[in-house]
Formats: sequence, C-alpha cells, structure tokens
Amino acid sequence: MQRLSNPEIILALDVDTLEEAKHFVDLLYPKIKLFKIGSQLFTACGPEVVKMVGDKGGKVFLDLKFHDIPNTVYYSIGTGSTICIAPHQVNIGREIKDDIVFPVFMMTVHIKGGRAMLDAAAKGAAEKAKELGIEKPFIVGVTRLTSEKDNVDTLKEVLQAAQLAKDSGLDGVVCSALEAEEVRKVYGEHFIIVTPGIRPDKAVTDDQKRTATVKEAVKAGSNFLVIGRPILKAPDPLLQTEELLGDLYGAGN
Ligand code: C5P
Repeated sequence: MQRLSNPEIILALDVDTLEEAKHFVDLLYPKIKLFKIGSQLFTACGPEVVKMVGDKGGKVFLDLKFHDIPNTVYYSIGTGSTICIAPHQVNIGREIKDDIVFPVFMMTVHIKGGRAMLDAAAKGAAEKAKELGIEKPFIVGVTRLTSEKDNVDTLKEVLQAAQLAKDSGLDGVVCSALEAEEVRKVYGEHFIIVTPGIRPDKAVTDDQKRTATVKEAVKAGSNFLVIGRPILKAPDPLLQTEELLGDLYGAGN
C-alpha cells in the first residue's frame, strides 16, 4: 500500500488537447507533481496523455468515475493501473518492473454503483498489482458530486457512502471539504479524502456548490485537493499556483 504524505494539490487538467495539457504540465511541474486526467481529456487523447505526464515525472489521478457492471469495472480498473505498459511488457510482468513507469496512482469509481461493483474495483486493482509486482493504485469512491446542492441529508449520505467504500476495501472517498472533517473523524487517518470544489475566493464558484478554500480543506483533513479552473483560467496560472501552495504550506500554522 502506498503511503500518504502531507496534503497535496492535484491539478485537474480539464482541457481538450494534448498540447494544452502539456503546456500546463511543463509550466507547473515540479511545483505540482500530481495531475488529474478526467473524462474530458481522456476522451480526447487517451493513454498518450497519461504517458506525457509520466514521462515528465508527474503522477496521474485517472478520474474516470467508473459506474458499470462489476465485470467491466474489474477489468477497467486493471487496465487503468497499467495504462502505460506496452502489451509485450505485460507478458514479462515482474522482471521489467523497474524499467517502466506506472504513472496512475489513483482512480475513481461511483459509490452509487453498489457493493458488488465496489468489491470488483478493489479486487481488480489488487489482483493486477500483484500479477505485475507493482504498487496498487489508490481506488477512491465518489460520494456526492461537489456540484450538487447541499441538503439536510448530505452529511448522512456521504457518511453512508464512505462506510460502503470502506466495507468494500476502497482506499477512501471523494467528498467536499464540508463533509471531510466528519469523514476523517469517523474513518481515521489512513482513509484517503480527496476534495474538489476548492476555490481561492469563495465568491467565484463556477458550477460548484459546496466549495472551500485550501486552508479550510486542509483543516478539515483532506489529503488531496483537486483544483482546476482557479489555476487553468487564472491570468497567471504559475502565480496562482504559487499562491495556492503558499496557502497549503501555511495551512498548518
Ligand atoms: O475546475 P474545478 O476546480 O471546479 O474542477 C474540479 C475537478 O474535480 C473537475 O475535474 C471535476 O470533474 C472534479 N470532481 C468534482 N466533484 C467530484 C469529483 C470530481 O468537481 N465529486
């Protein structure tokens, strides 16, 4: 199992082309070492964009939010974990593990997919990692989208989803910073919490409804803060990143 370090920022590469993605990776690596590739970019570029991040030295959070029958999710998670391995390398598995890059360190599934699907996701990741002698990527479950409005049951629903994730052997959950504190309290320090919906200035929320600042998310116990538009659309993305990293490093003080 991989170890958790201090809270880290993940840049959501929500762009349409390999060139745009490469522009942001070249500009921000190594200040940012973790990059989220979601459905927008992966649909456009596929594994090539994962390889681009890996070649640079970055790690990929492959956020494809699988929600399908257990068999499909089992194999999709297995493929995702080893996405940059050429077919001939898969055949010789363990022997070449030190020579190849495995950039995907985390993937997502929708907890709404249910127990059998979540079990399949955890099993798919564990079995593929064992087969190839590689580190198992973290599998985290999406509780509720941060674009969904809060209601009186939100916290209860997120905690129930987190319980299902835990029971199924997932490594953690994606939830808003507003529920993170309670999730951390109930599930302890080894349960991964990923929080999107981070905004430097809470007035600018785009389509996100349940937002928080970097400091609030860290205080609530988040391990990974996913940030997209506040950096991608900033007049000076490098300066904006430095400011957000300043908030991150200063958050414990
Ligand atoms: O641009 P912004 O910072 O809002 O981007 C947030 C990112 O986090 C998007 O890529 C979105 O797909 C993702 N995400 C989310 N809410 C979740 C899970 C993932 O906003 N519950």
